[in-house]
Amino acid sequence: MRLRGKTAIVTGGARGIGAAIAEGYAREGASVCVADIEIAAAEDTAKRIGNGSFAFPLDVTRMDSIKAGVAEANARLGGIDILVNNAAIFDMAPWGEITEASYDAIFAVNVKGLVFTLQEVAESMKARGKGGKIINFASQAGRRGEPLVAIYCASKAAVISITQSAGLALIKHGINVNGIAPGVVDTPMWDRVDGLFAKYENLPKGEKKRRVGESVPYGRMGRPEDHVGCAIFLACAESDYVVAQTYNVDGGQWMS
Ligand SMILES: NC(=O)c1ccc[n+]([C@@H]2O[C@H](COP(=O)([O-])OP(=O)(O)OC[C@H]3O[C@@H](n4cnc5c(N)ncnc54)[C@H](O)[C@@H]3O)[C@@H](O)[C@H]2O)c1
Repeated sequence: MRLRGKTAIVTGGARGIGAAIAEGYAREGASVCVADIEIAAAEDTAKRIGNGSFAFPLDVTRMDSIKAGVAEANARLGGIDILVNNAAIFDMAPWGEITEASYDAIFAVNVKGLVFTLQEVAESMKARGKGGKIINFASQAGRRGEPLVAIYCASKAAVISITQSAGLALIKHGINVNGIAPGVVDTPMWDRVDGLFAKYENLPKGEKKRRVGESVPYGRMGRPEDHVGCAIFLACAESDYVVAQTYNVDGGQWMS
């Protein structure tokens, strides 16, 4: 058990990749705060994974919610060793149809929410003096733009940049900040992506998913559990010398 006695908070941990990581951490011995805006689903996930894990209703777009969530996790877990900054939303539109509301919503969750959750948890790790591990979820979308996905891509490029800056700033406190960039992963988020591509590229439902899966060098779309191994590595002592990096976990889609 590589995370025996460790504690973690996973934002957006109710479903998809976040839930798989919360479950993988619990299997490795960690107690996990499953923090999500969808509290009923977060409670189901926490109950399923056990090992002292619990759910918390977190909205990363609200500073009061971040402060309350981090305080609750610190109180109930006796300090936070690991943060997985995984909560995000997706939207897309042709360039001329991008709206201010969509831009604001994406940046509020994917960038501002990630930055201030990271800040709040890192400050509590510094005060505790035991170091820590912070893992930010970027995307292959952050490695290059896409004609229909400009704002989500920009938000994930920002995550890669924040990971570099925070990683360099916090390593002197023994806090490793690194990232994971998935490729295309079959989760509820991709059901939304598929529906939007169907609309804008005039495709039957499911067709975009089929095509992207076929184009992955590994031979299929990613599954949530494909990201668990890297997330465990970045959360345990074996990765102490890894600083400010974003790892591609994408079946060979991107090389950097
Ligand atoms: N699915 C993919 O193909 C893919 C590809 C690359 C990167 N990613 C990234 O991986 C991460 C997980 O993606 P996923 O596919 O599992 O997503 P998902 O949509 O299936 O799950 C996201 C979770 O975040 C939660 N959430 C949304 N807004 C929130 C908020 N304001 N506060 C707290 N929680 C909130 C949702 O309730 C949900 O449980 C995200 O950062 C995503 O951008 C996903």
